[in-house]
Amino acid sequence: MTTDLWCLILLSIGAYLITSRIIPRFRDVFIRANLFGIDLCKSTGAEVPEAVGVLCGCVFLVCMFLFIPARFGQEFIRQKESFPHHELVEYITALLGVTCILLLGFADDVLDVPWRVKLLLPAIAALPMLLVYYATFDITFVVVPKPLRPFVGQSIDLGWLYYMYMMMVVVFSTNAINILAGINGLECGQTVVIALSVLSYNCFEIYMGEVPSHAHYFSVHLLLPFIGTSAALLRYNWYPAQVFVGDTYCYFSGMLFATIGILGHFSKTLLLFFIPQVINFVYSVPQIFHFVPCPRHRLPRYNKLTNNIEMSTVRFKQKDLKFLGRASIGILESMGLLSVQRNVGENREYTECNNFTLVNLILKLFGPMHERSTTIIILLIQILCSCAAFAIRYPLARLFYDV
Ligand code: UD1
Ligand code: MG
Repeated sequence: MTTDLWCLILLSIGAYLITSRIIPRFRDVFIRANLFGIDLCKSTGAEVPEAVGVLCGCVFLVCMFLFIPARFGQEFIRQKESFPHHELVEYITALLGVTCILLLGFADDVLDVPWRVKLLLPAIAALPMLLVYYATFDITFVVVPKPLRPFVGQSIDLGWLYYMYMMMVVVFSTNAINILAGINGLECGQTVVIALSVLSYNCFEIYMGEVPSHAHYFSVHLLLPFIGTSAALLRYNWYPAQVFVGDTYCYFSGMLFATIGILGHFSKTLLLFFIPQVINFVYSVPQIFHFVPCPRHRLPRYNKLTNNIEMSTVRFKQKDLKFLGRASIGILESMGLLSVQRNVGENREYTECNNFTLVNLILKLFGPMHERSTTIIILLIQILCSCAAFAIRYPLARLFYDV
């Protein structure tokens, strides 16, 4: 292992220790600044500091500021002429993206912006990265899977569509984590599992050493301090949560993954590690696009008597539903994926169904359970999906690509 990697490992351990120390010290500061939320799955009604992810973001940035001289210092002194400027630009761009998204995410936590704007914020923060991609790589062709090659050739140049795709990767990864949320430890837990999975993928690729591994080292360099600081946050966000991560952290982690995937040229593989988030997004589509009414909070309902959480529901008048709403409810109900009760409430003109989230779906399939058990089950699903991602990426990909 090289000296800069040792230095990074020490910095990441430092990131864990410092984040663990500062989170409890900042709890009262956040509450005094009115940055708190009520834990809706508890009966205490206690104020829990929110947006604590901003502390992780700051610790991460400081780690990277200290690491960059260690990573490039020797090359700068020894070989000024052949200094790898494009590599330095990638690191600086990643940090610029993270800084932008921390600012926008924190603004969201403070101002509670509407959903349309939430979708836009990551797209704005992605612009510097796309600009750097354009100026340095501008590779916009994709390799065509083997079965389609007789029809369309070896590769297709997608041009500006590729930039749209990259923008969508950023918007998806940031929001996908934010909507698979609402129970203690879930946002941070899924992020740590994804980060460890991507890190394992990078280490495997470096070990195999078939292609230049610069992109994978770049990813490892960003992931290690991120895992250090996130592990500390998870300690405090785990059931019973002493702090909430806030939208700041969801955007920060999503942006970091997207940057690694895009600048490291493995955005398609990256998306394989987001299988539960993709399922949650697809399942959520009817509510996100308002085919079915979407309440402000879709997190599960707490049952004081049993101390368990159960599916939360949404109630609406049958006749208010348009074709797409009726169709999505009908399809999901026939597949056994939605619990629907018709003709309820006043004049029996209401329909009630569970909110369309993976957390509610798990509670429908397994029945009501303790909040901590629900988080553990979803994280186990995330781990299983990461194993499936490796199976798809290696054995199955060989059927479709020359890898
Ligand atoms: C997203 C979800 C929303 C979900 C919320 C919970 C969509 C479209 N939006 O909204 O349905 O209710 O996340 O995070 O899917 N909270 C808890 N326990 C937790 C975490 C959060 O009770 O473990 C509550 C707290 O009251 C906290 C609030 O959720 O203040 C945070 O919600 P926020 O992140 O602002 O919600 P959104 O991201 O807008
Ligand atoms: Mg949120």
